[in-house]
Amino acid sequence: MEINELKHIDKTVRGWLSESRDNVLRKIDTRLTVDTKTSRKDLVTNVDKQNEKFLVGKIREFDPDSKILGEEGFGDQVHSTKGRIWIIDPIDGTMNFVKQRNNFAIMIALYEDGKGVLGYVMDVIGKHLLSGGPDLGVFDNGQPLPPVQDTPLREGLIGLSGPMVLHNDYNMVDIAQQSLGMRIYGSAGIDIVSVLRGELVGYISYLKPWDFGAGRILCETAGLKMTTIDGQRLDVLSSTPVLLATRNAHRDILTIVSK
Ligand code: IPD
Ligand code: CA
Ligand code: CA
Repeated sequence: MEINELKHIDKTVRGWLSESRDNVLRKIDTRLTVDTKTSRKDLVTNVDKQNEKFLVGKIREFDPDSKILGEEGFGDQVHSTKGRIWIIDPIDGTMNFVKQRNNFAIMIALYEDGKGVLGYVMDVIGKHLLSGGPDLGVFDNGQPLPPVQDTPLREGLIGLSGPMVLHNDYNMVDIAQQSLGMRIYGSAGIDIVSVLRGELVGYISYLKPWDFGAGRILCETAGLKMTTIDGQRLDVLSSTPVLLATRNAHRDILTIVSK
């Protein structure tokens, strides 16, 4: 894609995100309608649905030939990575949104023929929009992101999934012990922002395309590694345990996972 077209798309998406943030903030002190999906811990609210509909509407108008993969199902059925695909997580960390009204994110990704083009992860309350892609670089609230230090596991904090620690999946307890400490934030988006900002050396969780699609583009552009938990290439349409980390921490973690 030509750079001017990319910049135009980038500016447009930022506009949607700013509107989307305002819409969500307007609802934040209202009574939410909360439904459960696959379990009592898997929630969706009226705000998740409204925000996905809002973003799907904007994309349909702007890029009618593309396909949209949205968590709440207002997009399309997407089975192939051919062509342009937008991936939306309208509220990432819905449990946090419901119980804390904090620590949640809005995420949008654009892929073309399976290749990441642009990614957006917005920490709504913390006011950080991480944005960009391989041809633009990564920005934090519009400013170039400082280089992410290649910190090893033993010198950093690691973001983990609560259930994976509880079950000691993939030697998660050992991973936590070898780090300086674990953090469980409950939102992939917040963890991804924290890794990009150098607050965590890595993040491990079972994720779906809308949880990692945007973050993957930003993290790879910033020189971080995002793979499956056993170090394999991550397919953008897959749902799998994901390992995101600095290059050094990624190596350290793979050694522990394969023990
Ligand atoms: C969830 C959060 C959570 C992660 C789950 C995701 P949602 O997203 O990112 O941290 O561990 O796997 O499903 O459902 O709140 O958008
Ligand atoms: Ca969500
Ligand atoms: Ca999510």
